Parts: sequence; C-alpha cells; structure tokens
Amino acid sequence: MKTEIITINDPHSETAKVALQRAGNILRRGGLVIFPTETVYGLGADATDADAARKIYAAKGRPSDNPLIVHIATPEEATKWADVPPLYWNLAERFMPGPLTVIMPVKPSIPSTVTANLPTVAIRCPAHPVAHALLMSTGLPIAAPSANLSGTPSPTCARHVIDDMNGRVDMILDGGSCDIGVESTIVKIEENGVLTLLRPGGITQEMLENAVGEVQLAGAVLHALKEGETAISPGMKYRHYAPAAPLYLLKGNTAQALTYLQEQKGTIGILWYEEDLSLFKVALPDVSCFSFGKKEDRDYQAKYLFYLLREMDKKHFDAIYAPLPPLSGIGMALYNRMIRAAAHHIIYL
Ligand code: TXA
Ligand code: MG
Repeated sequence: MKTEIITINDPHSETAKVALQRAGNILRRGGLVIFPTETVYGLGADATDADAARKIYAAKGRPSDNPLIVHIATPEEATKWADVPPLYWNLAERFMPGPLTVIMPVKPSIPSTVTANLPTVAIRCPAHPVAHALLMSTGLPIAAPSANLSGTPSPTCARHVIDDMNGRVDMILDGGSCDIGVESTIVKIEENGVLTLLRPGGITQEMLENAVGEVQLAGAVLHALKEGETAISPGMKYRHYAPAAPLYLLKGNTAQALTYLQEQKGTIGILWYEEDLSLFKVALPDVSCFSFGKKEDRDYQAKYLFYLLREMDKKHFDAIYAPLPPLSGIGMALYNRMIRAAAHHIIYL
C-alpha cells in the first residue's frame, strides 16, 4: 500500500483543511490514518466500523484480545458510545481535552472488535490541535492505539511513525513531535464508583486524587503481573515499549553505576542524567552516552524516553543501561514504561 504523508503545521490553514478532508474520506471508507496527539501518535480507524478496526490489529501486528481506545472530539460525545457514570463528568471537567482515558461500560454502537469483547470501552478526548481538527471534521469516533508495531516503543515523532508504518496505512499526518511523550493515563470507573488507575501518564495519581478523592492502583502498574493475577487492562500482560537491545535499569547512585558499568563487556549504550554525563565520559571514554535530561526534569524524560530508546536502538548496542526513575508525579509513568521496556530487569547496585 502507498502511504500518503502530509505535514500539518497549522490545522486551520487551507492545506490542512484539504488534508483533513482527504483523511476523513479515507476513514469513512474504512481506511487507516495516523495522526499526532499530545501523548504519542495514534493509528486511527472509524470506531463504528468492525472491519476497519480489524485492519488496525493487522497493521500493528497486535493481538486481537488487546482493545483499542476510542477518541472523541468533545467530552459530551462519550454518551453515544458508553454508559457514562457521574464520576466521568468530574474527570472531564478537570482533565478533558487532555491525556486521560476513561474506561466505562460500552454501548452496542461500538463493535466488539474495538473492545476485544470486553463489556467496557476506553474513551479519550485528545487536546492536540490536529487530532481535534480531524475528529471535528470527520464527526466520527476514531479508534486508535499507539502507531507503533506491537511491542516497540510508541512513536513520538513522524520519523518514528514512518520507520514502523510506511506502507501499512493509507495516510500519515505529520504534526511534529508529541509534547508529553508517554501514552495517556488510563482510569477505570468501577461499578461501585471507585476509580482505578490502570496506566499512569501525564495526568498523575496526585492530580486525580486532588480532583476526585481516592484512586486505587491496579496490580502490575509497578511490578510484573504475578502468577495467577489477571490483567484489568489486557495490554498489561504483553511485552511492551521494548528496544531491540536488552535494557537494564540501575538502582543506586552515580558512583555505584559507574563502577558497575566499567565492568560490563560488549558495546553498551548508556542513557543517563545530564548532570553526570561528564563523569561518565571520563570514566567510560569508549562508551556511547545519551542525555536523559536533567535529573529533576521528569517532564523532559517522559517526553524523550521513547524517542531516545528508538534512536539508541539504531546503534545496535549489545545492551542499554538507564537509571530506575523515582515514583512521584509523572515519574510513575516513566517507571511503568521503563520496567516493561526492560522486561523487569532491575539491577540493585
Ligand atoms: O495516549 C494514548 O492513550 C495513545 C493515543 C494514540 O491516544 N493510545 C494508546 O493506545 O496508547 P494503546 O492501544 O497503545 O493502549 C491502550 C491500552 C491498552 O493497554 C489496552 O489494553 C487498554 O488501553 N484498554 C483499551 N480498552 C480497554 C478496556 N475496555 N478495558 C481495559 N483496558 C483497555
Ligand atoms: Mg501502545
């Protein structure tokens, strides 16, 4: 398939209007369009079209039991596709449009291919101007997972989308690099009204608790799924975000990391905090070091984590080493993605 790639700098420009119209036509006839969001790029199809949704799974190589998020133009549209509990409106008022996905009971208007036969649907109203313009101009709900091949780090810039998806979709809308860089926070409104955090992201647990009170953390957010534990979110059980080179996370201080890394053999890549990079370069002159930004700048680290893992992978290292992030704020999202990318390989120094 030939993939049309169109850059949109200003979603209100004439060029953008024409491109969005074409994208709308593709979606209406059951095709696939990749679009930027504020979190990561999404691989979209008409969420009311079961055959179109099936094409998403095929393009990504995604297991069919891993459901898709339905994107909507305004928070109110959720009522068409879900039985919306009161708590949704509290969340919508505070965090939508934005990087939050809410899981609620599904209505029959969404085919079971999208929900992977679950009784619930994931709803998200993205804030990115191109995503918003696409949703507004088509008037369709758009089912979209992250636009990567299944298992690889999510794409946060058009280059990385093209690396994975050129020839597999009808159109790619290039809207530059994504601001947040990790996928949306996913919460589920339970039948008893309690909110469970299934995937941490840009909307942090602290922000959710300030808005709606207690939020329970699903199992497997901060550890591997245990024997016999079922995943509330099917995506939790799959290997994820992984670079081709094995990734190891180091827990300890910089001096301990340096000593440990000096003993490692093979061609290794190191992702480390800006402040310490000069020490690494002196102690390990033949090793490639990449900056993970300033130690306390967790927003930067979230924004560039997937980007850096993909760029580092192009060097074909035997192994990649990175620090284990702390859990506070958006650090929890980093921790969640990094332990999966590392297949839970944490080295305690
Ligand atoms: O930021 C994002 O959320 C991006 C952009 C494109 O919006 N999308 C995204 O989609 O990350 P994806 O498919 O890569 O991740 C969606 C996750 C999966 O782990 C899936 O299992 C879970 O959401 N999910 C979807 N529907 C669900 C449901 N009804 N119940 C539980 N988990 C669900
Ligand atoms: Mg994904």
